[in-house]
This record gives sequence, C-alpha cells and structure tokens, in this order.
Amino acid sequence: MGLGAGRTGIGMGLRTWGPGPNWGWRGTQLGPTGLGVSRDRTGAGRAGLGCVAAEVRDCRFPRQRHRGRVPIPVPVPAPAALSRPAAAMLLLRAVAGRRLPPLMQLSRDCSRLAAGSAAPRGHRGAAPVLAALLGLGAVLAYGERRRRIAQAARATPAPQYPRYTRAEVAQHRTPSDRVWVTYGTEVFDVTDFVELHPGGPDKILLAAGGALEPFWALYAVHSQPHVLELLRDYKVGELSPEDTAPPAGDTKDPFSGDPPRHPALRVNSLKPFNAEPPPELLTQSFLTPNELFFTRNHLPVPAVEPGSYRLRVEGPGGRALSLSLAELRQRFPKHEVTATLQCAGNRRSEMSRVRPVKGLAWDIGAISTARWGGARLRDVLLAAGFGDETVGDGEWHVCFEGLDADASGTPYGASIPLKRAVSAEAEVLLAYEMNGQELPRDHGFPVRVLVPGVVGARSVKWLRSVVVSPSESPSHWQQNDYKGFCPSVDWDSVDFRSAPAIQELPVQSAITEPRPGAAVPAGELTVKGYAWSGGGREVVRVDVSLDGGRTWRVAELGPRPERGQGWAWALWELRAAVPAGARLDIVCKAVDSSYNVQPDTVAPIWNLRGVLSNAWHRVPVTVTR
Ligand code: MTE
Repeated sequence: MGLGAGRTGIGMGLRTWGPGPNWGWRGTQLGPTGLGVSRDRTGAGRAGLGCVAAEVRDCRFPRQRHRGRVPIPVPVPAPAALSRPAAAMLLLRAVAGRRLPPLMQLSRDCSRLAAGSAAPRGHRGAAPVLAALLGLGAVLAYGERRRRIAQAARATPAPQYPRYTRAEVAQHRTPSDRVWVTYGTEVFDVTDFVELHPGGPDKILLAAGGALEPFWALYAVHSQPHVLELLRDYKVGELSPEDTAPPAGDTKDPFSGDPPRHPALRVNSLKPFNAEPPPELLTQSFLTPNELFFTRNHLPVPAVEPGSYRLRVEGPGGRALSLSLAELRQRFPKHEVTATLQCAGNRRSEMSRVRPVKGLAWDIGAISTARWGGARLRDVLLAAGFGDETVGDGEWHVCFEGLDADASGTPYGASIPLKRAVSAEAEVLLAYEMNGQELPRDHGFPVRVLVPGVVGARSVKWLRSVVVSPSESPSHWQQNDYKGFCPSVDWDSVDFRSAPAIQELPVQSAITEPRPGAAVPAGELTVKGYAWSGGGREVVRVDVSLDGGRTWRVAELGPRPERGQGWAWALWELRAAVPAGARLDIVCKAVDSSYNVQPDTVAPIWNLRGVLSNAWHRVPVTVTR
C-alpha cells in the first residue's frame, strides 16, 4: 500500500495471522512499500492514528479477498515530518503492540526500509548495522510500550459493560441482527469480523448467537493468546451472572475420543493430531511399526463400531451396494500390498525456509511404509457393476468420503480416476489390515482406501462411501488444496481451478542419519536414508555427496521384499571415511525407473502451499577430532 490522499498516519502492508483449513497460522511481514497513510476499520480514516491494513484471505475461497483495517492507537506525526528510520521505529512500536511477526524478522525488513525501499534487492548498504540498531530499538520500543500500557491501565478505570442473558445473545444470529457470540462470561459483537474470518464466514456463523467454546475446541488453532486478544476488540457486554455457566455439553472436546499415541512421535499439531516418527526411527526397519507410522488427520478420529459399520458403494444408474465389514472380508479375496504412503506436505519445513508457506511444518517424516491387506477396490467396483466400460465416455472418477466430519458436518473427501481404481496393476485396496493387524484407529479403522504410488491425501481413512462419478470429488481437499503452483503464484493470484489435483508424487529422498548440525566422530561415517517415487516407479539409484554436490558416490540400496513392484521405498546406506575436523555438507538425490531426478534447490519449486518439496536433501555436519 502506498500514500493515499487526505489521511494522516502511518500504515503498513500486513496480513493478519489466521487459521486456514489446515489450522496452520499464516502471515507475512511488512509490505514492500512499507509506509502508507491508512484508514480505520470503518474506512472513515483516523487522523493521527497509525493503522494496520489487515488483509485476510480465506484459502478455501481463493478468489474471495476481504480487507479490514484495525486501528492501533499510536499517535504519529504526518509522513512528511518523518525520517525513514523514525518511521521504521514507529512501525516497530505499532507492531510490538499487535504481537504480529517476530521482531527479528521485522528488524530485517525495516533495515531494508530504512536503507531506502527503492534500493535494488541485492543492495545491502548499511542494512546489517541498521538491522542491529533497529532490533535493539524494537526491544526498547516494546518495553516502552508495555510500560505505557501498564501505566494507562492503572490510570483508566475498567469499562463497565452491559449485561445480557444467553437468550438475548441468541437473538443475534445474522449480520442484519448483528452477530453475537460468547466466550467464557463475555459477549462479543463479531459482525464486522464475519467476512474477515480466515476459516470462512460460513464457519463463524455456525457459532452465531451462542458459545464459541465448542467450535474453538474443534479448531484448536484458536487456543492462542492473540486470537483472544483479537476477539477482545469486539467485546460489547458480559453475560448476566445467573447465566454464566456454559451450556451443558457445549465444551465437550471433540478430540477427547482420539486414541492414545506413541510418545516417540513428533507432534506437529495435537488437535487434529498430526505427527511424524523421528528420523532416526524412520529407517530402523523397512516396514514402519504401526505405532510410529506418520499420522495426518484433518479432523477428530471418528469412533466406529465395527459391528454396525457399513460401506456404501454407489454409481451411475442408481446402482448401489452396501457392505458390512464382515461382508467386505468374506466376499472378496484378501490382497496384500507393501506400499509407502507420503503426505504432499512432507519436507514442507525446508520450503518455508525459502519463504513462508501455509501448512503444517513437516520435517522429513511425513512418509512411512506398511504391508496393507484388504479387498481390491477393483473387485468391489466390479461386483457393484461399475467397470471402466460400464460407465459413459470421458474420464470418470471414484470419490471417497470419510466418517470424520467438521462442525458443519462436511466429511473429509478425495477422489482418484476410475481407470486407476479398476486397474488390476494399480492394486488399489479397501484396506482393513496394516502390518498384519487390524487398522489402528488413527490410520482409518475399520476400512481405508490405500492408493499405492499416489499422494496420501487420496487414501481416505474411516471410509464411509465410494461413489463412481463423472466428476472429481467436490471436497475442499480435492478442489482447493493439495495442488502445485508456480513459485510466483501467491495467495492474491492463486486460482485453484487452474491446477490439477496431485495424484502420483515425484521422486523423493532424504537423509535420516546423521541429523543436521550433528558432530560425528572421525573414522567411518554411515549415512542412512530413504528414497521413493510415485506411480510405482522404482528407485534405481541414490547418489550421495559429502561435499555439497561437487563429488558423488552411489549409495547401497537395502533389500526390498518385492523387486519390480515399486510401491515401497528403498532404504539406503553409504559408508565413507571422514577426516577429523572436516565440515561435511551431506546431500542425497534419488533416480527413479523413468530416470526422473530431484531438483537441486528448493526455491525454483517453492509453492504457496508448501507441497511437493523434493529438492536434494542437505545435512551439514562436523567431524570431531
Ligand atoms: N482420510 C480422512 N478421512 N481424513 C483425513 O484427514 N488425511 C489424508 C489421508 N486420508 C485424511 C484421510 C492425508 S492428507 C494423508 S497424508 C493420509 O490420510 C495420511 O494417512 P495416515 O494418517 O494413515 O498416515
């Protein structure tokens, strides 16, 4: 944003941080122009107030952008009177009060701003010194602001709010009646926030006229101090004392029924549960133990009673089949496949080091391997009368829905092309066994889809329906997520309809031992890792370099139970003599049976959602004397 006419004050291009559909928080730093004159939330403008331009964008509705401006009470002189460093300091002061991006990040951006935002990107000038000064300035400014707030709090008596009954709050359910919600004993009028809600206006309206707690319990990202701080801006009252007990049952935690988990898992998000095995354990065995298999849940784990479970299979012409678990086991031959499952977001944390991305910060462990057992999807579809040739022309799809659903009742869903579903070679399963045991609850008990060679998102867990359809699944996760984009596409320009849903994944490899930053003893070093490729393309070679990619050696591939069937990863190892005092830059890259290779760096494959992160994996280590 730049200078605008007729307003005084200082603003900066910021996006608010908010939850996306995957309950990750996102945000960006200062806009490139840095300074600007701003308007307040109502658009009326406030002379002498510094304001933050909050641009909230719902990624479920990518073409829809909402803007709102939240005033920050920082008195500032007119822009003309400000030197750039002084302006930068004011920005820092404003931001210190909003608890937005980390101060260090801001000081870095401010150093650019202070050095002149028109300077070419590569020009550093006095930036490091300024950054240090501004970093110090930020700390001092923050302390000063805290002191003033405390002083002001002592001087200003707490405002007296009107009291409302729950029945009165319940009358405010629509924007025309104003949208009210309660949290604890407080009442908030969030009408002006509805359009800004990062999860979408429809989701916040589900709570209209009632308590927020049950919804915040489901979308756990709300349990953060700055969310409450944001809500406090909208406070309009207190609940009447006789009405302050939360409505019975409302606070039930929808995740309270989730199963117990192995303590070794590295948790990326607790509710919903998302966790990966530590790298050192990942390649301990070819098959990942069920307890350590990475878990990617978007919603609470449903509790399914196996005795009453039914799977519905539907297709054109109104034909349908309903199967109990026993029927699925008995009517169709059991087929077993050893297959690796990888999340599209595996290694996302490396991508966010290039530029922030939206999503869970997976390390290298959003990948695991199991021996799956179940009925072939092909057999079930053919029994229901849906072969490739029995449907109409064009590409048909098989859409899956899970028994897990969000607060509005929308289930997790995804689809694969019918061609793959009915292909004998593709070996798509309706799996009820994992490594010889019944499916664990976290991995889809009692039945999940298992699509070998395809991104994990399509292997729908807790399967409730299979629908043969002329269109792909309408699910958010098929349409508006798990797609790749050009590095220059951002949340302002993304059009999810322009990209195909990810199906087969590209070639991938990573080093599991040693760990980045480790100090290893001189002598023989063992480097270990995994390599895998989508679409059944077997890994034919893994190259390892100890000097950042200048020279290479070929790693030894471990035994694979089913050579030729490339659904599963290859574990690999390289032993090399390393001299004391050396600094190693260990790198690995895999080659698959189509001679696909991994890109050498992350930046050219960066994408806003942080998916398909498969650049050479790099692990710096030092060798001790
Ligand atoms: N199926 C349902 N019903 N709900 C989900 O949240 N997550 C998907 C897929 N199937 C998901 C689902 C994603 S994104 C992945 S990567 C895999 O499940 C992960 O499977 P896992 O948890 O067994 O490793």
